[in-house]
Amino acid sequence: MTGIKIDGKIIAQAVKDRVKKAVEELKTQNIKPCLATILVGDNPASATYVKNKHKACEEVGIETKDHKLDSNITQSELNNIIDNLNSDMSVNGILVQLPLPKQLDEFATTSRISPLKDVDGLTPHNAGLLAMKKAVLVACTPSGIMEMFDYHKIDLNGKNIVLINRSNLVGKPLYHLLLEKNATVLTCHSKTKNLTDLCKSADVIITAVGDRSKFILTPEMIKEGAIIIDVAISRFQDRLVGDSDFEQIIQKASFATPVPGGVGPMTVAMLLKNTVIAASLSSQIGR
Ligand code: GUN
Repeated sequence: MTGIKIDGKIIAQAVKDRVKKAVEELKTQNIKPCLATILVGDNPASATYVKNKHKACEEVGIETKDHKLDSNITQSELNNIIDNLNSDMSVNGILVQLPLPKQLDEFATTSRISPLKDVDGLTPHNAGLLAMKKAVLVACTPSGIMEMFDYHKIDLNGKNIVLINRSNLVGKPLYHLLLEKNATVLTCHSKTKNLTDLCKSADVIITAVGDRSKFILTPEMIKEGAIIIDVAISRFQDRLVGDSDFEQIIQKASFATPVPGGVGPMTVAMLLKNTVIAASLSSQIGR
């Protein structure tokens, strides 16, 4: 059996088309959505991600402000920049690209962002709303994965899902979104025992490890017809790879995402969507 490729580029384009229309509509009301990004230091992968985010904003008519900061910046200097963006009425969304250099505290940084401008859904306020089923701004990669399920009309009701990641950006928000769809979700991590057995019994596996020396999801580890969402992306022998090999896994899976061209484009598309939501929110409360 060969399964169906979940093509992130096509689904992301559909989201971007909708966002572009929403941006045009907002502009007729004199609201110009604007995303501010903050990149600290010179991590080349992060610089590429931020560049791609700016390019995508441009495609749909979202304005951008680009803050490239020295890797030695202090927490209080970074806080000041975030405070200024929080009170800048021309800015609707604020994204601090992660990871941050060691001297900076990720929690202190992300929770400094106004929840109304938190397009990553990382503030305690927005993460809490998600846990209460009241989310407005949801982390981009998790909401992008849910968009993929919707696009293919994949019903998660009662499905056994193995989620291999427990981060604030991916695993935790995804757990809540999947639970809202009545899935049974097992959140696995580096200390989980018998991961292979757990994978073998899963209807859906969402994997985001990103280190092939630690974990590779092989066809032997999945059941026939399972759905595989590969969130990981890392460089291996000069090519970009996920936690699984798409060409092999798709022989046994009913649906699977490729890497690259799977979840990655969805993260960017959902960031655009969140920026538009944040712009609408700011117009509703008059700032
Ligand atoms: N680093 C990797 N993914 C992300 C993301 O979705 N948002 C931010 N801010 N940083 C990231």
